[in-house]
Amino acid sequence: MIQKYVFGTPFPTDAVVMNMEPAKDSLPFFTVDEQGRFTYALAEDDIVYGLGEQIRGINKRGWQYVSWNYDNPNHHEDARSLYGAHNFILIRGAVTFGAFFDYAGKMTFDIGYTNRSQMTIQAAKNDLVVYIITGETEKDIVKQFRQIIGRSYIPPLWAFGYGQSRWGYKTEQDIRTVAEKYKAAGIPIDSIYLDIDYMERYKDFTVDTERFPNLKKFSEEMQAQGIHLVPIIDAGVKIEKDYDVYEEGVEKNYFCKNAEGGDFVGAVWPGRVHFPDFLQPEARAWFGKKYSVLTEQGIDGFWNDMNEPAIFYTEDRLANTCAEIEKLTSGNMGINEYFAFTGMVAGLNGNIGDYDKFYHNVDGKMVKHSEVHNLYGMNMTRSAFEALQKISPDKRTLFFSRSSYIGAHRYGGIWQGDNKSWWSHILQSMQQLPALNMAGFLFTGCDTGGFGCDTTEDLVLRWLQYSLFTPLFRNHAADGTREQELYQFENVQATGEMIRIRYSLIPYLYSEFLKAALHDEMMFKPLVFDFPEDDMAKQVEDQLLLGNELMIAPIYKQNAQGRYVYLPEEMMLVRMRSCEDYETEVLPKGHHYVAAALDELVFFIRNQKAIPFAKAAENTAELDMHALTMLGYPDCSYELYVDDGISSDMENSLKVSML
Ligand code: GLC
Repeated sequence: MIQKYVFGTPFPTDAVVMNMEPAKDSLPFFTVDEQGRFTYALAEDDIVYGLGEQIRGINKRGWQYVSWNYDNPNHHEDARSLYGAHNFILIRGAVTFGAFFDYAGKMTFDIGYTNRSQMTIQAAKNDLVVYIITGETEKDIVKQFRQIIGRSYIPPLWAFGYGQSRWGYKTEQDIRTVAEKYKAAGIPIDSIYLDIDYMERYKDFTVDTERFPNLKKFSEEMQAQGIHLVPIIDAGVKIEKDYDVYEEGVEKNYFCKNAEGGDFVGAVWPGRVHFPDFLQPEARAWFGKKYSVLTEQGIDGFWNDMNEPAIFYTEDRLANTCAEIEKLTSGNMGINEYFAFTGMVAGLNGNIGDYDKFYHNVDGKMVKHSEVHNLYGMNMTRSAFEALQKISPDKRTLFFSRSSYIGAHRYGGIWQGDNKSWWSHILQSMQQLPALNMAGFLFTGCDTGGFGCDTTEDLVLRWLQYSLFTPLFRNHAADGTREQELYQFENVQATGEMIRIRYSLIPYLYSEFLKAALHDEMMFKPLVFDFPEDDMAKQVEDQLLLGNELMIAPIYKQNAQGRYVYLPEEMMLVRMRSCEDYETEVLPKGHHYVAAALDELVFFIRNQKAIPFAKAAENTAELDMHALTMLGYPDCSYELYVDDGISSDMENSLKVSML
């Protein structure tokens, strides 16, 4: 059962698509005080799941999290906010229930931080809607929630192929070389990403014709090899005379305004920019139509970035900071002045005060950005998705975004942002998966190999052994870091085998993805969701159930030659070096040490289950989704979901069969 409770005058977020009448009774479970604090007493054994893209564990107890979409490249344990605001939590304990705090501005979730036994949730203003969901099981609660927020985005099948990306590919020749080297190494690949350098001076919907003389021809050349080019689109529009997107946006009042009514200025990659007012339906439609500049050149996938929106600095703050710095540096700089100086410089980027300085036009009323901040990225992806439905109504386009709010899961996927080449970030990505699934985000994954910092071959191999299970499977790295295309490493054979195994698993992964999307279910679950009576299962933070047949337990520690695994039931261990070279072993319920050499992928097939396994192929277009063998327990059937992988009206091409 879901009950809706309205406090004050909430801003409509569009997260919930189902029409619901507010409940007549008062809010259960929480006490609400005059300051609008929602308090819940946590029992010792209570677990709190949820919050989507956030740091720390699957069980969120023991930290204070802030929903404030933020361009935060430091996913440290002490971070409070990342790029998304996913205000859904699920409490499991003496009472089990879900709660969604639908609020567009800043919101704090103190989950046993101030007091270990207390959870306190507070919105910046007490104008919000709270949904309380009760049900038989955790899965049932999630399903009910997912039903009110609408069906998750389903990408084209090719988006399940492997993608190579790097901020630093500057020319079409750079991209061609990547494609050639993958082909020469015999490693399957479906997509290569174009980061900001393909644009003319970082201007959205332009192509630098010195670097990419004929993008249409080049994208055809790539498509002929089965490779899709996926360009980035940033939120900020460069201020530049005669640049059509800028000129039109100014003329039509499609940009966010400052307090004086002028167009607000921030600085991001292109330098000074205006931010499209994605909360205006007309501005959304206008910006969305611009994607056709690229679709006309054969592009069928996009990643939307910097849409928190990220602001490196505003001119006012920069000028004030420079003036202060001048004062500080005019005399003999003491240590306190030195720290004030470094703090001021660091404080320019994403300064929370800057988000109070611009406004959206919502039905003629000016709404301060900070009050609706967390909706910005969602509405950027919505703008693209809705426009592309008109531009190519029959086809699915690949979309994923950095910033999001619940609701954005209907328009695209998300990637987990600027992680680092750290072992701990394999685990961090994995721990977000169930929480993201609860919030509707199924098409997701992280920058495999790590975005920031220098990676190593062993880290890449272990990372692949985790990411090859995630729907979005992309290797991406920051400019200036060590090159991490798979052919850069000594053991190309081993990395290549991991990619081939991914392709063999695509029929299963895609089928489980479709089931999760069509039935409002989770693709990745904490163990205890399927083993509710198992006290050990509820403590497991580094293994997940994948679909209904698999359990993954990746290795995420440097130099580890295996790991401890807990099996909540008898399972079949699969130890795989290649699609052909593997062994299986049935292990009883309980704790096990599982050895796995660096080139060995280990995963588990659940008791009396089997999965379809395809013959690996060069890319998804070559993959035979029907010539399947079964992997797992003998004489077990599997319900396969498959469609044509591209039609918008996917239900028409959907085929469900028993293998
Ligand atoms: C941001 C993105 C990253 C991208 C970079 C340059 O940091 O998160 O993925 O490579 O900008 O566009």
